[in-house]
Amino acid sequence: MDTLPGLATKELGRTFIHLDQVDSTNDYLKENAHRLPNLAVVIADRQTSGKGRSGRNWSSQPGDGLYMSLLLKDTPDGDLSRMPLLAALAVRSGLENLCGQPFAIKWSNDLLHEGKKLCGILCENRPERGQNTAVIGIGVNLRQSRQTLDDLGLVYATSLLLATNKLFSPKEAACAICNALESVFLRNSQAGLPGLLDEYRNHCVTLGKQVKVIRGSEQVPGKAVDIAADGSLLCEIDGKVVPILAGEVSIRGMDGYA
Ligand code: BTN
Repeated sequence: MDTLPGLATKELGRTFIHLDQVDSTNDYLKENAHRLPNLAVVIADRQTSGKGRSGRNWSSQPGDGLYMSLLLKDTPDGDLSRMPLLAALAVRSGLENLCGQPFAIKWSNDLLHEGKKLCGILCENRPERGQNTAVIGIGVNLRQSRQTLDDLGLVYATSLLLATNKLFSPKEAACAICNALESVFLRNSQAGLPGLLDEYRNHCVTLGKQVKVIRGSEQVPGKAVDIAADGSLLCEIDGKVVPILAGEVSIRGMDGYA
């Protein structure tokens, strides 16, 4: 078992596993959930089959990024639907604490710097033997150069190095994110969702924008007007406000990624 120097949490990340290589840190936690405690965290230097949202893969080259997952055991159903929203808020705040500069949220849970994607989050859950087991997977681009990202075809991506001109290690980033995750979960259980939802709205660059709602091969233009308490994006489409659920669709700005 490894540790995270600087960890200020009571529970989250106190069980911390650092792997050289794994297929996917999300799959690792799902497969090992029965023998790991709630709030265990795993990171890997490299993923051979890193997973993104909507069945995409997540490029996971050794040393280039943070590939991290958090295990949540026996989470109430209501909390599961809010998990992507809480995770995005926490990771945003953890990275801001780490770098001393703010980042934006693109609904539902991409983090952006100057309109380019810095971090993606994949929340997965499955009911297992009467228990809800959820995993929050976090991928942060740490040290890729512009050339490396372009060579991978990731023209809408950026890295913390490009955003801040500083190099951060996966463990430094993991530690900052763990601290922020525990604090957001605590605020959610003590003060409830409304304050966190307002904070999410303040950081969400999707709101107020003309967007394309992309469902399969269909693209519908609309305007993003609000975030609902279940984390769905409320879009005005043909004069009607329609809730868009994360995972069902992707959203693009009219003139690019954000
Ligand atoms: C996205 O498509 O934006 C979500 C990307 C999530 C990537 C992370 S990397 C760590 C964890 N393990 C995975 O296989 N995926 C997530």
